[in-house]
Amino acid sequence: MARRLWTGEPVGANPFALPRGPAGLAAGWILARTNRRQQHEVIRALAPVAGRRVLEVGCGPGVLIGLAADAGAEAVAGVDPSREMVAMARRRNAAAVRSGRVRLHRGSAAATGAADAEFDLVVTVNTVAMWPFLDDGAAELHRVLRPGGRAVVSWHGARSRFALRADEDAAVAAALRRRFGTVRRRETETAVLFEAAT
Ligand SMILES: C[S@@+](CC[C@H](N)C(=O)[O-])C[C@H]1O[C@@H](n2cnc3c(N)ncnc32)[C@H](O)[C@@H]1O
Repeated sequence: MARRLWTGEPVGANPFALPRGPAGLAAGWILARTNRRQQHEVIRALAPVAGRRVLEVGCGPGVLIGLAADAGAEAVAGVDPSREMVAMARRRNAAAVRSGRVRLHRGSAAATGAADAEFDLVVTVNTVAMWPFLDDGAAELHRVLRPGGRAVVSWHGARSRFALRADEDAAVAAALRRRFGTVRRRETETAVLFEAAT
């Protein structure tokens, strides 16, 4: 049976939700070009990044990975369940991957493969509606952060046709609150940001 998103849609039905094959590669190419402004806003929300260990969950074609490396992160890891997106993110960040500062592999919000408390910052952009279970993802983000680490979960903003419905927005905040205690929600020009700390 097709895996379903918490929004009710089958996850494999949309090449942007789970990029696979030629349509997935085309989706990755489009993603890398359309969400740049949001990626820059998210990097600003993560600051300071220099010297920090950063994990991106659902890195897609790897644009934010490159921004985090350019911002001076000590180490950047990215996971994505899509083989195609991991390959694309590796190509986009080839030099940093070769140097060992960027690591990219398959994984999901619920299973990143990271060690407990491995990261200072964990971030995810436009993936939270694809998580099959919000609580599992929130638990994993919390687990991989060191005490005092920060999480930023971002989704398309209110002006986007992909904006979360009020109940979906509340569900994301509630799942993070259950795990982190406090969540700050704010809107930027292009995105909604849920920010939490361990
Ligand atoms: C709309 S794309 C966003 C990609 C990238 N973060 C960006 O902003 O360009 C959604 C991404 O979420 C990934 N994804 C799907 N299910 C996921 C899950 N359960 N956990 C983490 N990522 C997931 C997809 O493979 C895809 O790369």
